[in-house]
Amino acid sequence: MGDAIVIPTEVARALREARQVVALTGAGISAESGVPTFRDAQTGLWAKYDPQELATPQSFRRNPKLVWDWYAWRRELVAAAEPNPGHFALAEIERRVPQFTLITQNVDSLHQKAGNIAVIELHGNISRIKCYEEDRIVDHWQEPDEDDHPRCPHCGGMLRPDVVWFGEMLPAAALRQAINASRSADFFLTIGTSGIVQPAASLPFEAIENRAITVEINPSETPLSAWMHHALRGPSGVILPALIAAAWPEFIV
Ligand code: OAD
Repeated sequence: MGDAIVIPTEVARALREARQVVALTGAGISAESGVPTFRDAQTGLWAKYDPQELATPQSFRRNPKLVWDWYAWRRELVAAAEPNPGHFALAEIERRVPQFTLITQNVDSLHQKAGNIAVIELHGNISRIKCYEEDRIVDHWQEPDEDDHPRCPHCGGMLRPDVVWFGEMLPAAALRQAINASRSADFFLTIGTSGIVQPAASLPFEAIENRAITVEINPSETPLSAWMHHALRGPSGVILPALIAAAWPEFIV
């Protein structure tokens, strides 16, 4: 047995009494499902590439095959991944509080797989494919032969994943909903995010303006840490179930 996780009573009580809970998640929540984060070292085949350098329109124009293959690798990895106890705990919180909004920077659908319903995807979804030329979602497409690039069945343009790349706008409706939810939160969790990619990283500040109780769940300190009321240090797959057990001690898993 490891050390018991201690959840401060104030945090447990604030969650239990909250009316509008918002959680902002990042790659860290999926780490325990085997999906590599962006800023931790990559492993294997892709170890020599910096994901941030692959995630730009410029890289795609320069080397579409490299970028396509990297996303194809991640798409397969994500398709085979299962939600972990952190994801399931967030689905449980959604069922327990009056209003809950999950804002994710992840593109892996693991929150939906775990049972969350109110999910705002700020950075798109890796399983959707769209046309680079026309920005239109394409339902049917084929993996190309060796050196070809998959093409749009409508216009012949190059296909790409429907994720937000650096330098691109976030989906406007998703961002608006995320800001509105954060502004009305009374309890705000930031989970498994390094808190450096904007505009997601500014959402906690909308909640702070609304006098929400803010809690960070992350094994490491981040630039957001200093602004949060509480930091719960550890993996989200351990901390989130402990938080539920502390908030609703009558709850038996
Ligand atoms: P990062 O890779 O920047 O940060 C992952 C965070 O998760 C770090 O702060 C880790 O300490 C933390 N972490 C690692 N293991 C964890 C665990 N088991 N439980 C909880 N936390 C853990 O990922 P993001 O913050 O999501 O954007 O990155 C933000 C955006 O930058 C991504 O959505 C992506 C990326 O480039 C785009 O592609 C547009």
